[in-house]
Amino acid sequence: MFDQEIYIKRRNGLRGQLDSGIIIFPGNFESSMNYPDNPYRFRQDSNFLYFFGLDHAGYVGVIDLDEGKDMIYGDDVDMDDIIWMGAQPSVHDQAESVGVKNTAPLDQLEVFLKKALEKNRIIHILPFYRGDNVLFLSRVTGKSPDELEKMISVPLIKAVINLRSYKGAEEIKEIEYAMDIAWEMHTTVMKMAKPGVIERELAGTIEGIAAARGNGISFPVILTINGQTLHNHYHGNILKEGRMMVTDAGAESLLHYASDITRTIPVNGRFDQRQKDIYEIVLKANTEAIKAARPGMTNKNLHLMASRIMANGLKEVGLMRGDIDQAVSLGAIALFFPHGLGHMMGLDVHDMEGLGEDYVGYNDEVHRSKQFGMAFLRLARKLEPGFVFTVEPGIYFIPALIEQWREEKKFAEFINYDKLDAFMDFGGIRIEDDVFVKEDDVEVIGRPIPKTVEEIETIMNS
Ligand code: GLY
Ligand code: MN
Repeated sequence: MFDQEIYIKRRNGLRGQLDSGIIIFPGNFESSMNYPDNPYRFRQDSNFLYFFGLDHAGYVGVIDLDEGKDMIYGDDVDMDDIIWMGAQPSVHDQAESVGVKNTAPLDQLEVFLKKALEKNRIIHILPFYRGDNVLFLSRVTGKSPDELEKMISVPLIKAVINLRSYKGAEEIKEIEYAMDIAWEMHTTVMKMAKPGVIERELAGTIEGIAAARGNGISFPVILTINGQTLHNHYHGNILKEGRMMVTDAGAESLLHYASDITRTIPVNGRFDQRQKDIYEIVLKANTEAIKAARPGMTNKNLHLMASRIMANGLKEVGLMRGDIDQAVSLGAIALFFPHGLGHMMGLDVHDMEGLGEDYVGYNDEVHRSKQFGMAFLRLARKLEPGFVFTVEPGIYFIPALIEQWREEKKFAEFINYDKLDAFMDFGGIRIEDDVFVKEDDVEVIGRPIPKTVEEIETIMNS
Protein backbone atom coordinates (compact mmCIF):
# COMPACT_ATOMS: atom_id res chain seq x y z
CA MET A 1 0.00 0.00 0.00
CA PHE A 2 1.13 3.57 -0.60
CA ASP A 3 1.41 6.07 2.23
CA GLN A 4 -2.02 7.13 3.51
CA GLU A 5 -1.35 10.71 2.35
CA ILE A 6 -1.58 9.50 -1.26
CA TYR A 7 -5.09 8.10 -0.76
CA ILE A 8 -6.23 11.17 1.18
CA LYS A 9 -4.95 13.42 -1.61
CA ARG A 10 -6.70 11.33 -4.27
CA ARG A 11 -10.04 11.45 -2.42
CA ASN A 12 -9.64 15.20 -1.94
CA GLY A 13 -8.95 15.40 -5.67
CA LEU A 14 -12.47 14.09 -6.25
CA ARG A 15 -13.92 16.61 -3.79
CA GLY A 16 -12.31 19.36 -5.80
CA GLN A 17 -14.21 18.27 -8.89
CA LEU A 18 -17.68 17.31 -7.63
CA ASP A 19 -19.97 19.60 -5.67
CA SER A 20 -22.41 17.46 -3.79
CA GLY A 21 -23.83 14.02 -3.20
CA ILE A 22 -22.49 10.63 -2.18
CA ILE A 23 -19.88 8.69 -4.14
CA ILE A 24 -19.97 4.92 -3.82
CA PHE A 25 -16.97 2.76 -4.76
CA PRO A 26 -17.97 -0.87 -4.37
CA GLY A 27 -14.86 -3.00 -4.00
CA ASN A 28 -15.00 -6.46 -5.47
CA PHE A 29 -16.26 -9.59 -3.77
CA GLU A 30 -14.83 -13.08 -4.05
CA SER A 31 -16.14 -14.60 -7.25
CA SER A 32 -16.84 -18.33 -7.55
CA MET A 33 -15.27 -20.38 -10.32
CA ASN A 34 -16.96 -23.80 -10.35
CA TYR A 35 -18.57 -24.13 -6.91
CA PRO A 36 -19.19 -21.50 -4.24
CA ASP A 37 -16.08 -22.05 -2.13
CA ASN A 38 -13.66 -22.29 -5.06
CA PRO A 39 -13.03 -18.70 -6.11
CA TYR A 40 -11.12 -17.13 -8.99
CA ARG A 41 -7.93 -15.34 -7.98
CA PHE A 42 -9.22 -12.25 -6.15
CA ARG A 43 -8.73 -8.98 -8.03
CA GLN A 44 -9.78 -5.81 -6.26
CA ASP A 45 -11.58 -3.15 -8.28
CA SER A 46 -9.05 -0.65 -9.63
CA ASN A 47 -11.04 2.44 -8.63
CA PHE A 48 -11.43 1.13 -5.09
CA LEU A 49 -7.69 0.43 -5.04
CA TYR A 50 -6.93 3.91 -6.32
CA PHE A 51 -8.99 5.78 -3.73
CA PHE A 52 -9.09 3.34 -0.79
CA GLY A 53 -6.03 1.12 -1.36
CA LEU A 54 -7.27 -1.95 0.54
CA ASP A 55 -6.71 -5.19 -1.34
CA HIS A 56 -9.48 -7.05 0.43
CA ALA A 57 -12.77 -8.56 -0.73
CA GLY A 58 -16.15 -7.29 0.45
CA TYR A 59 -15.46 -3.62 1.25
CA VAL A 60 -17.31 -0.56 -0.03
CA GLY A 61 -15.81 2.93 0.01
CA VAL A 62 -18.08 5.94 0.38
CA ILE A 63 -17.25 9.62 0.03
CA ASP A 64 -19.94 11.90 1.39
CA LEU A 65 -19.26 15.20 -0.37
CA ASP A 66 -21.77 17.16 1.70
CA GLU A 67 -20.68 15.89 5.11
CA GLY A 68 -16.97 15.91 4.19
CA LYS A 69 -16.73 12.31 5.38
CA ASP A 70 -15.03 9.17 4.01
CA MET A 71 -16.30 5.74 5.10
CA ILE A 72 -15.41 2.12 4.56
CA TYR A 73 -18.21 -0.40 4.97
CA GLY A 74 -17.08 -3.96 5.61
CA ASP A 75 -17.36 -6.83 8.08
CA ASP A 76 -14.73 -7.90 10.58
CA VAL A 77 -13.82 -11.57 10.50
CA ASP A 78 -15.75 -13.95 12.75
CA MET A 79 -14.49 -17.18 14.36
CA ASP A 80 -15.30 -19.28 11.27
CA ASP A 81 -13.16 -16.95 9.14
CA ILE A 82 -10.35 -17.08 11.70
CA ILE A 83 -10.42 -20.89 11.74
CA TRP A 84 -10.23 -21.19 7.95
CA MET A 85 -8.27 -18.09 6.95
CA GLY A 86 -6.51 -16.83 10.04
CA ALA A 87 -6.90 -13.66 12.07
CA GLN A 88 -7.13 -10.37 10.14
CA PRO A 89 -6.72 -6.74 11.22
CA SER A 90 -10.06 -5.10 11.94
CA VAL A 91 -11.78 -3.12 9.19
CA HIS A 92 -11.25 -0.05 11.37
CA ASP A 93 -7.46 -0.58 11.57
CA GLN A 94 -7.23 -1.28 7.86
CA ALA A 95 -9.27 1.84 7.08
CA GLU A 96 -7.02 3.97 9.29
CA SER A 97 -4.00 2.84 7.30
CA VAL A 98 -5.47 4.59 4.24
CA GLY A 99 -6.56 7.67 6.18
CA VAL A 100 -10.24 6.71 6.65
CA LYS A 101 -11.52 7.17 10.20
CA ASN A 102 -15.11 6.02 9.79
CA THR A 103 -16.14 2.41 9.33
CA ALA A 104 -19.34 0.42 9.68
CA PRO A 105 -20.58 -3.14 9.03
CA LEU A 106 -21.64 -3.83 5.47
CA ASP A 107 -25.36 -4.14 6.33
CA GLN A 108 -25.31 -0.51 7.51
CA LEU A 109 -24.69 0.62 3.94
CA GLU A 110 -28.26 -0.28 2.96
CA VAL A 111 -29.66 1.78 5.83
CA PHE A 112 -27.43 4.74 4.91
CA LEU A 113 -28.20 4.66 1.19
CA LYS A 114 -31.95 4.16 1.52
CA LYS A 115 -32.11 7.12 3.89
CA ALA A 116 -30.06 9.21 1.46
CA LEU A 117 -32.35 8.25 -1.43
CA GLU A 118 -35.44 9.15 0.62
CA LYS A 119 -33.91 12.62 1.04
CA ASN A 120 -33.29 12.77 -2.74
CA ARG A 121 -29.57 13.08 -2.25
CA ILE A 122 -27.42 12.58 -5.36
CA ILE A 123 -25.68 9.21 -5.52
CA HIS A 124 -22.67 8.97 -7.84
CA ILE A 125 -21.74 5.52 -9.14
CA LEU A 126 -19.39 4.29 -11.87
CA PRO A 127 -20.22 1.81 -14.66
CA PHE A 128 -20.24 -1.87 -13.63
CA TYR A 129 -18.45 -4.86 -15.08
CA ARG A 130 -19.37 -7.61 -12.59
CA GLY A 131 -22.87 -9.02 -12.22
CA ASP A 132 -22.51 -9.66 -8.48
CA ASN A 133 -21.76 -5.97 -7.88
CA VAL A 134 -24.92 -5.01 -9.78
CA LEU A 135 -26.97 -7.37 -7.63
CA PHE A 136 -25.31 -6.05 -4.47
CA LEU A 137 -25.91 -2.39 -5.38
CA SER A 138 -29.44 -3.23 -6.42
CA ARG A 139 -30.09 -4.73 -2.98
CA VAL A 140 -28.54 -1.90 -0.97
CA THR A 141 -30.22 0.87 -2.95
CA GLY A 142 -33.55 -0.85 -3.69
CA LYS A 143 -33.07 0.11 -7.36
CA SER A 144 -33.36 -2.29 -10.29
CA PRO A 145 -30.31 -2.86 -12.51
CA ASP A 146 -31.97 -0.67 -15.17
CA GLU A 147 -32.49 2.12 -12.64
CA LEU A 148 -28.87 1.76 -11.47
CA GLU A 149 -27.72 2.13 -15.07
CA LYS A 150 -29.40 5.53 -15.13
CA MET A 151 -27.59 6.53 -11.92
CA ILE A 152 -24.14 6.16 -13.51
CA SER A 153 -22.51 9.53 -12.99
CA VAL A 154 -20.70 11.09 -15.95
CA PRO A 155 -19.23 13.84 -13.71
CA LEU A 156 -17.76 11.10 -11.48
CA ILE A 157 -16.39 9.18 -14.51
CA LYS A 158 -14.69 12.34 -15.76
CA ALA A 159 -13.35 13.26 -12.32
CA VAL A 160 -11.83 9.80 -11.81
CA ILE A 161 -10.23 9.84 -15.28
CA ASN A 162 -8.87 13.32 -14.55
CA LEU A 163 -6.98 11.89 -11.60
CA ARG A 164 -6.00 8.41 -12.75
CA SER A 165 -4.63 9.59 -16.14
CA TYR A 166 -1.72 11.43 -14.53
CA LYS A 167 0.66 9.01 -12.87
CA GLY A 168 2.63 10.06 -9.82
CA ALA A 169 6.25 9.07 -9.17
CA GLU A 170 5.06 6.32 -6.80
CA GLU A 171 2.90 4.83 -9.56
CA ILE A 172 5.73 4.92 -12.12
CA LYS A 173 7.86 2.98 -9.63
CA GLU A 174 5.19 0.29 -9.48
CA ILE A 175 4.96 0.14 -13.28
CA GLU A 176 8.74 -0.13 -13.45
CA TYR A 177 8.55 -3.13 -11.14
CA ALA A 178 5.83 -4.69 -13.31
CA MET A 179 8.14 -4.06 -16.27
CA ASP A 180 10.98 -5.78 -14.50
CA ILE A 181 8.82 -8.88 -14.22
CA ALA A 182 7.86 -8.52 -17.90
CA TRP A 183 11.57 -8.41 -18.77
CA GLU A 184 12.06 -11.75 -17.05
CA MET A 185 8.93 -13.23 -18.69
CA HIS A 186 9.94 -12.22 -22.21
CA THR A 187 13.63 -13.05 -21.97
CA THR A 188 12.67 -16.46 -20.54
CA VAL A 189 10.45 -17.10 -23.57
CA MET A 190 13.30 -16.09 -25.87
CA LYS A 191 15.66 -18.53 -24.18
CA MET A 192 13.19 -21.43 -24.01
CA ALA A 193 11.52 -21.20 -27.43
CA LYS A 194 12.61 -23.79 -29.97
CA PRO A 195 10.99 -26.26 -32.35
CA GLY A 196 9.13 -29.02 -30.53
CA VAL A 197 8.17 -27.00 -27.45
CA ILE A 198 4.42 -26.67 -26.82
CA GLU A 199 3.10 -23.11 -26.43
CA ARG A 200 1.59 -23.91 -23.03
CA GLU A 201 5.00 -24.85 -21.62
CA LEU A 202 6.12 -21.29 -22.29
CA ALA A 203 2.83 -19.64 -21.34
CA GLY A 204 2.71 -21.57 -18.05
CA THR A 205 6.32 -20.76 -17.24
CA ILE A 206 5.84 -17.03 -17.65
CA GLU A 207 2.55 -17.04 -15.74
CA GLY A 208 4.56 -18.63 -12.95
CA ILE A 209 7.16 -15.87 -13.11
CA ALA A 210 4.41 -13.25 -12.87
CA ALA A 211 2.88 -15.03 -9.87
CA ALA A 212 6.23 -15.60 -8.17
CA ARG A 213 7.36 -12.00 -8.34
CA GLY A 214 4.18 -9.95 -8.39
CA ASN A 215 0.44 -10.30 -8.42
CA GLY A 216 0.31 -12.59 -11.45
CA ILE A 217 -0.41 -11.68 -15.04
CA SER A 218 -2.06 -8.37 -15.94
CA PHE A 219 -4.21 -10.03 -18.67
CA PRO A 220 -4.45 -13.53 -20.14
CA VAL A 221 -1.17 -14.40 -21.85
CA ILE A 222 -1.16 -14.23 -25.65
CA LEU A 223 1.57 -16.61 -26.79
CA THR A 224 1.10 -18.17 -30.18
CA ILE A 225 2.62 -19.21 -33.46
CA ASN A 226 -0.61 -17.87 -34.97
CA GLY A 227 0.09 -14.23 -34.24
CA GLN A 228 -2.22 -13.18 -37.07
CA THR A 229 -5.04 -13.71 -34.54
CA LEU A 230 -4.72 -10.61 -32.38
CA HIS A 231 -5.87 -11.97 -29.04
CA ASN A 232 -5.03 -15.64 -29.40
CA HIS A 233 -5.32 -17.40 -26.04
CA TYR A 234 -4.94 -20.96 -27.36
CA HIS A 235 -1.68 -22.48 -26.16
CA GLY A 236 -1.83 -25.99 -27.60
CA ASN A 237 0.37 -25.68 -30.70
CA ILE A 238 3.78 -27.24 -31.07
CA LEU A 239 6.38 -24.65 -32.07
CA LYS A 240 7.42 -25.37 -35.63
CA GLU A 241 10.57 -24.58 -37.55
CA GLY A 242 9.99 -21.62 -39.84
CA ARG A 243 7.15 -20.04 -37.79
CA MET A 244 7.33 -16.90 -35.72
CA MET A 245 5.77 -16.63 -32.30
CA VAL A 246 4.04 -13.61 -30.80
CA THR A 247 4.15 -13.18 -27.01
CA ASP A 248 1.96 -10.40 -25.65
CA ALA A 249 2.19 -10.62 -21.89
CA GLY A 250 2.62 -8.53 -18.78
CA ALA A 251 2.49 -8.74 -15.02
CA GLU A 252 0.96 -6.86 -12.12
CA SER A 253 3.15 -5.33 -9.43
CA LEU A 254 2.25 -6.12 -5.83
CA LEU A 255 0.05 -3.00 -5.81
CA HIS A 256 -1.60 -4.11 -9.07
CA TYR A 257 0.04 -1.77 -11.59
CA ALA A 258 0.42 -3.37 -15.01
CA SER A 259 3.02 -3.96 -17.66
CA ASP A 260 2.09 -4.93 -21.23
CA ILE A 261 4.82 -6.00 -23.64
CA THR A 262 4.79 -7.74 -26.99
CA ARG A 263 7.71 -9.37 -28.72
CA THR A 264 7.79 -11.53 -31.85
CA ILE A 265 10.54 -14.09 -32.32
CA PRO A 266 11.47 -16.73 -34.91
CA VAL A 267 10.89 -20.19 -33.45
CA ASN A 268 14.25 -21.53 -34.61
CA GLY A 269 16.24 -18.56 -33.38
CA ARG A 270 16.96 -16.94 -36.76
CA PHE A 271 14.65 -14.77 -38.85
CA ASP A 272 14.53 -15.80 -42.51
CA GLN A 273 14.77 -13.02 -45.09
CA ARG A 274 11.01 -12.63 -45.56
CA GLN A 275 10.40 -12.50 -41.80
CA LYS A 276 13.24 -10.03 -41.37
CA ASP A 277 11.81 -7.76 -44.11
CA ILE A 278 8.42 -7.51 -42.40
CA TYR A 279 9.90 -7.43 -38.90
CA GLU A 280 12.08 -4.43 -39.72
CA ILE A 281 9.01 -2.54 -40.94
CA VAL A 282 7.11 -3.09 -37.68
CA LEU A 283 10.22 -2.31 -35.65
CA LYS A 284 10.66 0.97 -37.49
CA ALA A 285 7.02 1.90 -36.79
CA ASN A 286 7.54 1.13 -33.09
CA THR A 287 10.84 2.97 -32.66
CA GLU A 288 9.99 5.97 -34.85
CA ALA A 289 6.62 6.44 -33.13
CA ILE A 290 8.32 6.37 -29.73
CA LYS A 291 10.92 8.86 -30.96
CA ALA A 292 8.23 11.20 -32.29
CA ALA A 293 5.91 11.00 -29.29
CA ARG A 294 5.82 14.06 -27.07
CA PRO A 295 3.34 15.98 -24.96
CA GLY A 296 0.89 17.99 -27.03
CA MET A 297 0.88 15.51 -29.92
CA THR A 298 -2.29 13.51 -30.43
CA ASN A 299 -1.96 9.76 -30.26
CA LYS A 300 -4.19 9.72 -33.33
CA ASN A 301 -1.37 11.41 -35.26
CA LEU A 302 1.11 8.97 -33.80
CA HIS A 303 -1.12 6.10 -34.99
CA LEU A 304 -1.27 7.65 -38.47
CA MET A 305 2.49 8.13 -38.51
CA ALA A 306 3.14 4.50 -37.58
CA SER A 307 0.57 3.45 -40.21
CA ARG A 308 2.37 5.44 -42.91
CA ILE A 309 5.73 3.91 -41.95
CA MET A 310 4.25 0.43 -42.22
CA ALA A 311 2.44 1.18 -45.50
CA ASN A 312 5.64 2.59 -47.00
CA GLY A 313 7.56 -0.49 -45.88
CA LEU A 314 4.90 -2.76 -47.37
CA LYS A 315 5.16 -0.80 -50.62
CA GLU A 316 8.92 -1.36 -50.66
CA VAL A 317 8.42 -5.12 -50.42
CA GLY A 318 5.73 -4.97 -53.10
CA LEU A 319 2.64 -5.73 -51.01
CA MET A 320 1.18 -2.23 -51.24
CA ARG A 321 1.31 0.30 -54.04
CA GLY A 322 0.11 3.74 -55.09
CA ASP A 323 -0.09 6.92 -53.03
CA ILE A 324 0.74 5.78 -49.49
CA ASP A 325 -0.63 8.87 -47.73
CA GLN A 326 -3.95 8.18 -49.40
CA ALA A 327 -3.76 4.46 -48.67
CA VAL A 328 -3.45 5.30 -44.99
CA SER A 329 -6.04 8.06 -44.81
CA LEU A 330 -8.61 5.95 -46.70
CA GLY A 331 -7.95 2.94 -44.44
CA ALA A 332 -6.26 0.45 -46.81
CA ILE A 333 -3.46 -0.19 -44.29
CA ALA A 334 -6.04 -1.75 -41.95
CA LEU A 335 -5.85 -4.98 -43.98
CA PHE A 336 -2.43 -5.47 -42.36
CA PHE A 337 -2.86 -3.34 -39.22
CA PRO A 338 -6.47 -3.70 -38.07
CA HIS A 339 -6.07 -2.25 -34.57
CA GLY A 340 -4.99 0.92 -32.80
CA LEU A 341 -1.44 1.92 -31.91
CA GLY A 342 -2.05 1.75 -28.18
CA HIS A 343 -3.90 2.46 -24.99
CA MET A 344 -3.42 3.99 -21.55
CA MET A 345 -1.89 1.73 -18.93
CA GLY A 346 -1.90 1.87 -15.13
CA LEU A 347 -3.90 -0.05 -12.54
CA ASP A 348 -5.69 -1.65 -15.48
CA VAL A 349 -3.71 -2.89 -18.42
CA HIS A 350 -6.21 -1.01 -20.62
CA ASP A 351 -6.36 1.71 -18.04
CA MET A 352 -9.85 2.81 -16.93
CA GLU A 353 -11.45 1.08 -19.91
CA GLY A 354 -14.33 0.03 -17.67
CA LEU A 355 -15.25 3.70 -17.31
CA GLY A 356 -15.78 4.02 -21.06
CA GLU A 357 -13.07 4.03 -23.72
CA ASP A 358 -14.27 7.27 -25.24
CA TYR A 359 -14.03 9.17 -21.96
CA VAL A 360 -10.46 7.91 -21.49
CA GLY A 361 -9.04 8.22 -24.98
CA TYR A 362 -11.14 10.89 -26.70
CA ASN A 363 -12.43 14.38 -25.92
CA ASP A 364 -14.03 17.41 -27.56
CA GLU A 365 -10.95 17.88 -29.76
CA VAL A 366 -10.51 14.32 -31.01
CA HIS A 367 -13.47 12.14 -32.00
CA ARG A 368 -13.48 8.42 -32.69
CA SER A 369 -13.17 7.47 -36.34
CA LYS A 370 -15.70 5.06 -37.85
CA GLN A 371 -13.11 3.69 -40.27
CA PHE A 372 -12.19 -0.02 -39.91
CA GLY A 373 -8.84 -0.14 -38.09
CA MET A 374 -8.76 3.45 -36.79
CA ALA A 375 -12.08 2.78 -35.05
CA PHE A 376 -10.22 0.43 -32.67
CA LEU A 377 -7.76 3.09 -31.52
CA ARG A 378 -8.30 3.25 -27.75
CA LEU A 379 -6.23 6.37 -27.07
CA ALA A 380 -6.45 9.20 -29.61
CA ARG A 381 -6.31 12.46 -27.67
CA LYS A 382 -3.29 14.63 -26.98
CA LEU A 383 -0.52 13.06 -24.91
CA GLU A 384 0.07 14.85 -21.62
CA PRO A 385 2.83 14.69 -19.01
CA GLY A 386 1.99 11.90 -16.58
CA PHE A 387 0.32 9.61 -19.12
CA VAL A 388 1.56 6.05 -19.48
CA PHE A 389 0.56 4.42 -22.76
CA THR A 390 1.52 1.58 -25.07
CA VAL A 391 3.01 1.76 -28.56
CA GLU A 392 2.13 -1.49 -30.31
CA PRO A 393 2.20 -1.48 -34.10
CA GLY A 394 1.76 -4.77 -35.92
CA ILE A 395 1.54 -6.32 -39.36
CA TYR A 396 -0.70 -9.36 -39.73
CA PHE A 397 -1.62 -11.61 -42.63
CA ILE A 398 -5.15 -12.73 -41.80
CA PRO A 399 -6.17 -15.19 -44.54
CA ALA A 400 -9.96 -14.78 -44.09
CA LEU A 401 -9.73 -10.97 -44.18
CA ILE A 402 -7.40 -10.99 -47.19
CA GLU A 403 -9.81 -13.32 -49.05
CA GLN A 404 -12.78 -11.13 -48.25
CA TRP A 405 -11.11 -7.92 -49.36
CA ARG A 406 -9.70 -9.60 -52.47
CA GLU A 407 -13.19 -10.81 -53.49
CA GLU A 408 -14.58 -7.33 -52.94
CA LYS A 409 -11.59 -5.87 -54.84
CA LYS A 410 -11.31 -3.55 -51.88
CA PHE A 411 -8.57 -0.94 -52.21
CA ALA A 412 -7.16 -2.86 -55.21
CA GLU A 413 -5.32 0.32 -56.21
CA PHE A 414 -3.29 0.12 -52.98
CA ILE A 415 -2.98 -3.62 -52.29
CA ASN A 416 -1.07 -6.08 -54.43
CA TYR A 417 -3.32 -9.10 -53.86
CA ASP A 418 -1.34 -11.33 -56.27
CA LYS A 419 1.77 -11.08 -54.11
CA LEU A 420 -0.19 -11.79 -50.93
CA ASP A 421 -0.71 -15.46 -51.87
CA ALA A 422 2.82 -16.15 -50.70
CA PHE A 423 2.06 -14.66 -47.25
CA MET A 424 -1.04 -16.66 -46.30
CA ASP A 425 1.05 -18.81 -43.94
CA PHE A 426 3.15 -15.95 -42.56
CA GLY A 427 1.32 -15.22 -39.30
CA GLY A 428 1.74 -11.83 -37.65
CA ILE A 429 4.21 -9.54 -35.96
CA ARG A 430 3.54 -7.11 -33.11
CA ILE A 431 6.11 -5.14 -31.09
CA GLU A 432 4.87 -3.32 -27.99
CA ASP A 433 6.52 -1.08 -25.41
CA ASP A 434 5.15 0.96 -22.51
CA VAL A 435 5.92 4.66 -22.53
CA PHE A 436 5.80 7.41 -19.89
CA VAL A 437 5.12 10.98 -21.03
CA LYS A 438 7.37 13.51 -19.28
CA GLU A 439 7.31 17.33 -19.40
CA ASP A 440 9.14 17.61 -22.74
CA ASP A 441 9.54 14.12 -24.12
CA VAL A 442 8.79 10.48 -23.44
CA GLU A 443 10.64 7.55 -21.91
CA VAL A 444 10.29 3.84 -22.54
CA ILE A 445 9.67 2.31 -19.12
CA GLY A 446 11.84 -0.48 -17.76
CA ARG A 447 14.92 -2.46 -18.60
CA PRO A 448 15.13 -2.86 -22.40
CA ILE A 449 13.84 -6.21 -23.62
CA PRO A 450 15.62 -7.53 -26.76
CA LYS A 451 13.88 -6.02 -29.77
CA THR A 452 16.19 -5.69 -32.78
CA VAL A 453 16.77 -8.69 -35.04
CA GLU A 454 20.32 -8.93 -33.74
CA GLU A 455 19.33 -8.68 -30.07
CA ILE A 456 16.67 -11.35 -30.45
CA GLU A 457 18.90 -13.74 -32.38
CA THR A 458 21.69 -13.24 -29.87
CA ILE A 459 19.60 -14.07 -26.80
CA MET A 460 17.87 -16.99 -28.53
CA ASN A 461 21.21 -18.53 -29.44
CA SER A 462 23.11 -17.73 -26.26
N1 GLY B 1 -1.88 -6.56 -24.58
C1 GLY B 1 -3.17 -6.78 -25.06
C2 GLY B 1 -3.81 -5.54 -25.55
O1 GLY B 1 -3.26 -4.48 -25.43
O2 GLY B 1 -4.92 -5.60 -26.03
MN1 MN C 1 -1.35 -3.49 -25.19
